[in-house]
Amino acid sequence: MLEVVKVVKSFYGLRALDSVNLKVEKGSMVGLIGPNGSGKTTLFNVISGVYKPDEGEIYLNGEKIAGLTPHEICGKGLGRSFQQPRLFKEMTVLENIMVSARSQKGESLSKALTRSWLEEEARLAKKAFSILKFLQLERLAFNPASNISAGQARLLEIAKVLMGDPQIALLDEPTGGVAPRLSEKIFDYIRKINREFGVTFLIIEHKLGVLFDYVDYVYLMDRGKIVLEGKPEEVAKSSTALEVYLGG
Ligand SMILES: Nc1ncnc2c1ncn2[C@@H]1O[C@H](COP(=O)(O)OP(=O)(O)OP(=O)(O)O)[C@@H](O)[C@H]1O
Ligand SMILES: [Mg+2]
Repeated sequence: MLEVVKVVKSFYGLRALDSVNLKVEKGSMVGLIGPNGSGKTTLFNVISGVYKPDEGEIYLNGEKIAGLTPHEICGKGLGRSFQQPRLFKEMTVLENIMVSARSQKGESLSKALTRSWLEEEARLAKKAFSILKFLQLERLAFNPASNISAGQARLLEIAKVLMGDPQIALLDEPTGGVAPRLSEKIFDYIRKINREFGVTFLIIEHKLGVLFDYVDYVYLMDRGKIVLEGKPEEVAKSSTALEVYLGG
């Protein structure tokens, strides 16, 4: 479903991505791990169109997507979440989801308050409610976003991604700032979305003990390169993984 081929991205001479190859099969859940600064978020930014790769190609369902804008790529079925939750604290949970759905499509405010805008708004609200219900967050719909826990904020990020009806979702640290037990609950929801809606996932995660229980395959990055890939149980016992994490 997703294929990254020899992708290079440099920032002022630093090769943040150094000929990265990666594949994600349709229906799978794949982990992307590696130490701080190894290039994981940069890879998400290149795949989702935030940056154009300097070299290489990216295929989504066989179609080249490198160089398209983020909302064009979103429109082709690729959604993503961000490492830092992007919440408008003064808005409600429901409003946050709806604003995000509008911006994923790259809409401008000039369309606001036309009849079609209002009809769309009603449709989006209904959809947002059903997603909140699935994540058992519907009681929070009218709470200000400033008033929710770290775990709930992480689930809200996933809700925003689901508004775009992704075929594949890239999640950047979906349990960042959340305690391990609650992290498992978040991964239970991700797996439920994978199984019930067939959404494919590529997930950056530092809590390897949690991640490895859920993913089918793992890529390990170090200094801009994929240095190891395999089934979680293989990666877990690899000496390469240990060396990378111990800063070898
Ligand atoms: N916009 C940018 N401008 C300059 N350098 C950047 C930019 N984005 C990322 N980098 C650099 O690229 C390297 C990889 O960063 P990246 O954020 O992809 O790492 P990461 O693996 O996601 O780390 P973490 O686990 O801490 O989130 C780092 O050295 C970072 O400083
Ligand atoms: Mg990162």
